[in-house]
Amino acid sequence: MYSKEFNEIVNLRRSNRAFDSEIEVPEDVIQKSLERAVLSPNSSNMQLWEFHWIKSKEELEKFVPLCLDQRAAKSAKQMVVFVTRKDKWRERAAWNLSKIKETIVGEPTKMQKSGLLYYSKLMPLLYTNDPFGIMTLVRRSISFFMGFRKPFFRTGGRAKQRIVVHKSCALAAQTFMLSIAAEGFHSCPLEGFDELRVKKALKLPRGAEINMIVVVGKGTEAGVWGPRFRVPNEEVIFVR
Ligand SMILES: Cc1cc2nc3c(=O)[nH]c(=O)nc-3n(C[C@H](O)[C@H](O)[C@H](O)COP(=O)(O)O)c2cc1C
Repeated sequence: MYSKEFNEIVNLRRSNRAFDSEIEVPEDVIQKSLERAVLSPNSSNMQLWEFHWIKSKEELEKFVPLCLDQRAAKSAKQMVVFVTRKDKWRERAAWNLSKIKETIVGEPTKMQKSGLLYYSKLMPLLYTNDPFGIMTLVRRSISFFMGFRKPFFRTGGRAKQRIVVHKSCALAAQTFMLSIAAEGFHSCPLEGFDELRVKKALKLPRGAEINMIVVVGKGTEAGVWGPRFRVPNEEVIFVR
């Protein structure tokens, strides 16, 4: 239905590293794109993410050295820092629980009952940690024994939890970048930054991590580093 338009947007989204100094990005382009990013799929709808919009000139200037003086950052008109908040899992599980409870009229349906169980029992099982790694051991043992004879969800420790939140956050970043392209502007995702200093600048707690920074502006031809190279489809797309 929207195949042609979607194709155009996907092709328009190139990483641009030199933005036009004369052209500003209207605020509503970022606002709309962030609101679209919020609609991205995310693990268990826990929304363990935050989007920090760096809008003011002074703040943008502060972030240039933190982005290692990359030209994309220097010329950016706007930036968004995509942050994971694994540490907010209790709050978000409780929020999901309350949302389900709001939908219950009289006796809960089977679906509502399993939703309540999901956020009150399964999320704590997946996200609780302790200094001795006991919960990780419990989770790994459950996966091992339950999955011995039949397929079962493979859970684990802190690394697995971090992968889960970063996956979801990166999907939000992609929605944001596609939206920026749809609005006729350009972006570049960055992982070249000083994570410690970015966290400090945003006054983030220990449990937060920087997923990526997306810089935005009106791209220039010089900002595109040549044609788009991709390895042949046969090397990455497998049909079984
Ligand atoms: C997670 C991530 C981090 C990236 N970090 C940087 C970066 O720090 N600096 C940069 O110039 N490009 C960065 N890029 C852009 C990639 O180099 C670019 O996406 C890739 O070369 C493909 O080009 P395209 O985006 O134009 O299709 C990053 C891309 C991703 C997805």
